[in-house]
Amino acid sequence: MRIDKLLANLGFGSRKEVKKLLKDGAVKVNDIVVKDAKQHVDPINENVTLNGDRIEYKEFIYLMMNKPPGVLSATEDTREETVIDLLELEDQVYNPFPVGRLDKDTEGLLLITNNGQLSHRLLSPKKHVPKTYFAVIEGEVTEEDVKAFKNGVTLDDGYYTKPGDLVILKSGLMSDIELTITEGKFHQVKRMFESVGKRVVYLKRMSMGPLKLDDTLELGEYRELEDEEIQLLKEYQVI
Ligand code: URA
Repeated sequence: MRIDKLLANLGFGSRKEVKKLLKDGAVKVNDIVVKDAKQHVDPINENVTLNGDRIEYKEFIYLMMNKPPGVLSATEDTREETVIDLLELEDQVYNPFPVGRLDKDTEGLLLITNNGQLSHRLLSPKKHVPKTYFAVIEGEVTEEDVKAFKNGVTLDDGYYTKPGDLVILKSGLMSDIELTITEGKFHQVKRMFESVGKRVVYLKRMSMGPLKLDDTLELGEYRELEDEEIQLLKEYQVI
């Protein structure tokens, strides 16, 4: 990769500003000053420094966010705040995007990455990746609903869902439940409950495939995946 592109991609300035840094002798590759913007470097195996500080380059970034309500799962929007707007600039420079969508009012686990293959595989209908949601439901959730979800239910557009594993945590006028589904149809959890005449009033994703929401993350907070979590994704054959 060209040194000027590397530095610009990592957010050290525009191509023009980066050219000036190079001209000023601020950049070294393996302890040798590099002034030529066209010089190619291998940022993983070579030691690139800017004013003496090593530049850390990674091809892929993997972030786990506890998505807050009121924010769109999109990369950009002209009017509304997106999950990418919540990232530090040093993370935004990797051009990450959310893996799939949570509704604007849904909270919880959102994976954000620039690895298109990971996203494609995790979202592939062929992979049947389980996603578990915690929800508060208006109305009494019953064993009938558990059975109905187990058999699959018909959504408002006629789509017949795959089985969902519904666990009642608390039943009453308001019920707490956990639902695991292996599909990702638009508003799926809300529409599954609509199909049995009930309404989701709060929805939070707790897990996706092998990843579990880190419960120390406050709403809107995020962190990089840990090595063990990346290993889990590898074992899951999505990266
Ligand atoms: N199902 C929904 O209805 N909404 C979400 O955000 C995720 C799953």
